[in-house]
Amino acid sequence: MSHSLSDLEARLSGSLDDNLAGRLPDAATVAAADARARHWISPHQGPLKPGSPEHKQAVCRMFEETFNPYKPSVIPWPKLEPEALARITSLPIWDIAVQTEGKARLRMSAYAATIDDPEMRETIARNGWEENRHKEVLSRLVEAYGIQLAPEPEYVPPRDPEWAYLVTGFSECVDSFFAFGLFEMARRSGFFPQELTDTFEPVIQEECRHILLFANWLAWHRATMPWWKRPWFELRVLAVWVFLGWERIGLAKTVDGEGRERTQDNNFTVTGAKAVSAEDYSLADIIDLCLIENDRRFAGYDPRLLRPTTMPALARFARWFMRKPNRMAQQARA
Ligand SMILES: [Fe+2]
Ligand SMILES: [Fe+2]
Repeated sequence: MSHSLSDLEARLSGSLDDNLAGRLPDAATVAAADARARHWISPHQGPLKPGSPEHKQAVCRMFEETFNPYKPSVIPWPKLEPEALARITSLPIWDIAVQTEGKARLRMSAYAATIDDPEMRETIARNGWEENRHKEVLSRLVEAYGIQLAPEPEYVPPRDPEWAYLVTGFSECVDSFFAFGLFEMARRSGFFPQELTDTFEPVIQEECRHILLFANWLAWHRATMPWWKRPWFELRVLAVWVFLGWERIGLAKTVDGEGRERTQDNNFTVTGAKAVSAEDYSLADIIDLCLIENDRRFAGYDPRLLRPTTMPALARFARWFMRKPNRMAQQARA
């Protein structure tokens, strides 16, 4: 059964907007909302087995109760010194970031509309709503700092919502993993004023919640689908990873401004690190920091909920071949 996408979005958007209506929250309210968004434990006693009603309810409640009611329209964008402003405007990410959020919103909402289970439907639709809020935050930032964007493409609803949702969900798992590390580098570097990194902090944590939801939706979906659908579904999951690998390599090729073809995503990560920090991070350092940040961001959520595992496992596997001491862990301990 398919539920009307526009109805679902209109209803959800109405209730969430009411939630945020017109008040400027004081600092204590903002701090409390921020803490709530990072910590959540289910009151349920006993295990949360994927596929069980208890697990599903825990996932949906986690997502609802960790909602951070920040409002893009009231974010004060700090005035930047010319150097910081130049760094921000020259980051080669704004077009792709805005378009990624726009696509994610549409794909999540479209998939939500195909889900029969009302709680899960509402939860995924809520995730779509939050993606749109990310897009709004970015649009306001772009406006505040005079960043020129390429015209956005038309956002077309996907013909295969499940496939589109899988691509978006796994993409978020990959991007967030690196974003966690790069964001921490940016924060430590002093390249950007603290008010600016503070403004983005809840957005980055929100992506952590999103991939936490995705990992648990995936387990729920696997556990509740008829057994004969599983092989086809697993083939699709595999195809998504192949597609993402191919797409990332394509992406890395296009970001080199000197016309040289790059064939490894590694370079993209290191280039990204150079854009946000003056420190000389090796690829091993970057991976270590991403892993530390990944663990830290998930630490406040119920350990019985599943975490995304593929990116950390791939990163640990790649790291194993790099014989370099873990400078990041030593720094963290110091
Ligand atoms: Fe997002
Ligand atoms: Fe997201």
